[in-house]
Amino acid sequence: MMQDLAMHMLEILMNSIGAKSSKVVLRVRDSVRDNVIDMEVEDNGGGMSEEMVKKVTDPFTTSRTTRKVGMGVAFMKGLTEQCDGSFDIVSTLGEGTVVKASIRRDHIDAPPMGDLGEMIMYAIQADETINLDFYYTTDTEQFLFTTDEIREQLEGVSLVEPEILIWIKEYINEGIVHAKEGMV
Ligand SMILES: Nc1ncnc2c1ncn2[C@@H]1O[C@H](COP(=O)(O)OP(=O)(O)OP(=O)(O)O)[C@@H](O)[C@H]1O
Ligand SMILES: [Mg+2]
Repeated sequence: MMQDLAMHMLEILMNSIGAKSSKVVLRVRDSVRDNVIDMEVEDNGGGMSEEMVKKVTDPFTTSRTTRKVGMGVAFMKGLTEQCDGSFDIVSTLGEGTVVKASIRRDHIDAPPMGDLGEMIMYAIQADETINLDFYYTTDTEQFLFTTDEIREQLEGVSLVEPEILIWIKEYINEGIVHAKEGMV
Protein backbone atom coordinates (compact mmCIF):
# COMPACT_ATOMS: atom_id res chain seq x y z
CA MET A 1 0.00 0.00 0.00
CA MET A 2 1.29 3.41 -0.99
CA GLN A 3 1.15 5.79 1.95
CA ASP A 4 1.43 9.52 1.48
CA LEU A 5 3.85 11.51 3.62
CA ALA A 6 1.07 12.78 5.89
CA MET A 7 0.12 9.20 6.81
CA HIS A 8 3.75 8.38 7.59
CA MET A 9 3.94 11.47 9.79
CA LEU A 10 0.72 10.52 11.56
CA GLU A 11 2.29 7.19 12.57
CA ILE A 12 5.23 9.02 14.10
CA LEU A 13 2.97 11.57 15.79
CA MET A 14 0.80 8.81 17.24
CA ASN A 15 3.90 7.27 18.79
CA SER A 16 4.66 10.58 20.48
CA ILE A 17 1.10 10.75 21.76
CA GLY A 18 1.34 7.15 22.97
CA ALA A 19 4.54 8.04 24.83
CA LYS A 20 2.56 10.40 27.09
CA SER A 21 4.14 13.57 25.78
CA SER A 22 2.85 16.86 27.11
CA LYS A 23 4.36 18.66 24.11
CA VAL A 24 4.84 17.57 20.51
CA VAL A 25 6.43 19.64 17.75
CA LEU A 26 6.06 18.69 14.09
CA ARG A 27 8.29 20.44 11.57
CA VAL A 28 7.88 19.98 7.85
CA ARG A 29 10.25 21.71 5.46
CA ASP A 30 9.26 21.56 1.82
CA SER A 31 12.15 22.97 -0.20
CA VAL A 32 12.34 23.18 -3.98
CA ARG A 33 15.67 25.00 -3.69
CA ASP A 34 17.32 22.19 -1.73
CA ASN A 35 15.19 19.48 -3.36
CA VAL A 36 14.22 17.95 -0.03
CA ILE A 37 11.24 17.33 2.19
CA ASP A 38 12.34 17.24 5.82
CA MET A 39 9.99 15.88 8.48
CA GLU A 40 10.74 16.10 12.18
CA VAL A 41 8.71 15.09 15.22
CA GLU A 42 10.00 16.10 18.64
CA ASP A 43 8.32 15.09 21.89
CA ASN A 44 8.93 15.20 25.62
CA GLY A 45 7.41 11.78 26.29
CA GLY A 46 8.83 8.66 27.88
CA GLY A 47 11.63 8.16 25.37
CA MET A 48 13.36 4.91 24.43
CA SER A 49 16.47 3.04 25.43
CA GLU A 50 19.24 2.65 22.84
CA GLU A 51 18.27 -0.97 22.45
CA MET A 52 14.65 -0.05 21.84
CA VAL A 53 15.62 2.53 19.20
CA LYS A 54 17.58 -0.19 17.37
CA LYS A 55 14.66 -2.55 17.63
CA VAL A 56 12.07 -0.15 16.24
CA THR A 57 14.26 1.12 13.38
CA ASP A 58 15.44 -2.32 12.22
CA PRO A 59 12.85 -4.84 13.40
CA PHE A 60 14.13 -7.51 11.00
CA THR A 61 17.70 -7.44 12.21
CA THR A 62 16.59 -8.21 15.74
CA SER A 63 16.35 -11.90 16.57
CA ARG A 64 14.10 -13.37 19.19
CA THR A 65 12.26 -10.29 20.35
CA THR A 66 10.40 -10.84 23.57
CA ARG A 67 8.03 -8.02 22.80
CA LYS A 68 6.07 -7.35 19.67
CA VAL A 69 7.37 -4.26 17.91
CA GLY A 70 5.34 -2.52 15.23
CA MET A 71 6.32 -1.14 11.87
CA GLY A 72 5.47 2.57 11.77
CA VAL A 73 9.03 3.76 12.39
CA ALA A 74 10.56 1.06 10.19
CA PHE A 75 8.28 2.02 7.28
CA MET A 76 9.27 5.67 7.58
CA LYS A 77 12.95 4.69 7.62
CA GLY A 78 12.44 2.43 4.60
CA LEU A 79 10.81 5.27 2.70
CA THR A 80 13.77 7.59 3.33
CA GLU A 81 16.17 4.91 2.08
CA GLN A 82 14.07 4.38 -1.03
CA CYS A 83 14.01 8.12 -1.76
CA ASP A 84 17.72 9.02 -1.34
CA GLY A 85 17.01 10.53 2.07
CA SER A 86 18.12 10.15 5.64
CA PHE A 87 16.62 8.96 8.91
CA ASP A 88 17.63 9.50 12.49
CA ILE A 89 16.19 9.00 15.98
CA VAL A 90 17.60 10.60 19.07
CA SER A 91 15.84 9.45 22.22
CA THR A 92 16.47 9.63 25.93
CA LEU A 93 14.51 7.63 28.46
CA GLY A 94 12.40 9.92 30.58
CA GLU A 95 13.18 12.97 28.44
CA GLY A 96 11.79 12.47 24.97
CA THR A 97 12.43 11.66 21.37
CA VAL A 98 13.29 13.38 18.12
CA VAL A 99 12.57 11.55 14.88
CA LYS A 100 14.06 13.10 11.72
CA ALA A 101 13.21 11.87 8.26
CA SER A 102 14.18 13.42 4.96
CA ILE A 103 13.55 12.48 1.35
CA ARG A 104 14.70 13.77 -2.04
CA ARG A 105 11.75 15.82 -3.20
CA ASP A 106 11.93 14.93 -6.90
CA HIS A 107 12.66 11.25 -6.38
CA ILE A 108 10.49 9.10 -8.61
CA ASP A 109 9.33 7.11 -5.56
CA ALA A 110 8.63 10.17 -3.41
CA PRO A 111 5.00 9.89 -2.25
CA PRO A 112 2.71 12.90 -2.44
CA MET A 113 2.55 15.12 0.65
CA GLY A 114 -1.05 14.13 1.35
CA ASP A 115 -3.50 16.07 3.49
CA LEU A 116 -1.51 17.60 6.36
CA GLY A 117 -4.53 19.43 7.77
CA GLU A 118 -6.50 16.22 7.98
CA MET A 119 -3.53 14.39 9.49
CA ILE A 120 -3.26 16.94 12.28
CA MET A 121 -7.00 16.78 12.76
CA TYR A 122 -6.66 13.02 13.34
CA ALA A 123 -3.86 13.54 15.85
CA ILE A 124 -5.96 16.04 17.81
CA GLN A 125 -8.92 13.69 17.66
CA ALA A 126 -6.75 10.90 19.06
CA ASP A 127 -5.66 13.03 22.01
CA GLU A 128 -7.85 15.95 22.89
CA THR A 129 -5.28 17.23 25.38
CA ILE A 130 -2.39 17.27 22.92
CA ASN A 131 -0.15 20.31 22.98
CA LEU A 132 1.06 20.46 19.40
CA ASP A 133 3.06 22.99 17.40
CA PHE A 134 3.18 22.49 13.66
CA TYR A 135 5.63 24.36 11.45
CA TYR A 136 5.42 24.22 7.69
CA THR A 137 8.35 25.90 6.00
CA THR A 138 9.02 26.55 2.32
CA ASP A 139 11.94 28.38 0.70
CA THR A 140 10.26 31.72 1.34
CA GLU A 141 7.53 31.36 3.96
CA GLN A 142 6.69 29.72 7.25
CA PHE A 143 3.26 28.76 8.52
CA LEU A 144 2.78 27.96 12.20
CA PHE A 145 -0.20 26.29 13.82
CA THR A 146 -0.34 25.76 17.57
CA THR A 147 -3.04 24.09 19.63
CA ASP A 148 -2.15 26.58 22.38
CA GLU A 149 -3.28 29.53 20.32
CA ILE A 150 -6.46 27.79 19.18
CA ARG A 151 -7.35 26.84 22.77
CA GLU A 152 -6.89 30.41 23.88
CA GLN A 153 -9.27 31.61 21.17
CA LEU A 154 -11.84 28.90 21.93
CA GLU A 155 -12.07 29.84 25.63
CA GLY A 156 -12.89 26.38 26.91
CA VAL A 157 -14.66 24.90 23.90
CA SER A 158 -13.27 21.43 23.17
CA LEU A 159 -10.96 21.01 20.17
CA VAL A 160 -12.71 17.79 19.25
CA GLU A 161 -16.07 19.38 18.46
CA PRO A 162 -16.66 18.31 14.85
CA GLU A 163 -16.94 21.89 13.54
CA ILE A 164 -13.74 22.86 15.32
CA LEU A 165 -11.86 19.87 13.88
CA ILE A 166 -13.01 20.68 10.36
CA TRP A 167 -12.08 24.32 10.89
CA ILE A 168 -8.59 23.33 12.07
CA LYS A 169 -8.08 21.09 9.04
CA GLU A 170 -9.09 23.85 6.65
CA TYR A 171 -7.15 26.53 8.50
CA ILE A 172 -3.98 24.45 8.26
CA ASN A 173 -4.45 23.58 4.60
CA GLU A 174 -5.06 27.24 3.74
CA GLY A 175 -1.93 28.23 5.63
CA ILE A 176 0.03 25.67 3.65
CA VAL A 177 -1.35 26.92 0.33
CA HIS A 178 -0.27 30.46 1.24
CA ALA A 179 3.17 29.30 2.34
CA LYS A 180 3.60 27.52 -0.98
CA GLU A 181 2.75 30.56 -3.07
CA GLY A 182 5.76 31.61 -5.03
CA MET A 183 7.27 28.15 -4.87
CA VAL A 184 8.27 26.76 -8.27
N1 LIG B 1 8.30 8.94 20.25
C1 LIG B 1 8.39 7.78 20.91
N2 LIG B 1 8.54 7.78 22.26
C2 LIG B 1 8.64 6.62 22.95
N3 LIG B 1 8.57 5.39 22.39
C3 LIG B 1 8.41 5.33 21.06
C4 LIG B 1 8.32 6.50 20.25
N4 LIG B 1 8.19 6.11 18.96
C5 LIG B 1 8.18 4.77 18.97
N5 LIG B 1 8.32 4.28 20.22
C6 LIG B 1 8.33 2.87 20.62
O1 LIG B 1 8.51 2.06 19.47
C7 LIG B 1 7.42 1.16 19.29
C8 LIG B 1 7.18 0.89 17.84
O2 LIG B 1 6.68 1.99 17.16
P1 LIG B 1 6.23 1.88 15.67
O3 LIG B 1 5.46 3.07 15.33
O4 LIG B 1 7.39 1.52 14.82
O5 LIG B 1 5.31 0.62 15.62
P2 LIG B 1 3.72 0.53 15.79
O6 LIG B 1 3.23 -0.40 14.77
O7 LIG B 1 3.13 1.87 15.82
O8 LIG B 1 3.61 -0.14 17.16
P3 LIG B 1 2.87 0.47 18.39
O9 LIG B 1 1.43 0.17 18.13
O10 LIG B 1 3.44 -0.27 19.55
O11 LIG B 1 3.17 1.92 18.39
C9 LIG B 1 6.27 1.81 20.03
O12 LIG B 1 5.34 0.86 20.48
C10 LIG B 1 7.00 2.46 21.22
O13 LIG B 1 7.27 1.51 22.22
MG1 LIG C 1 3.33 3.46 16.38
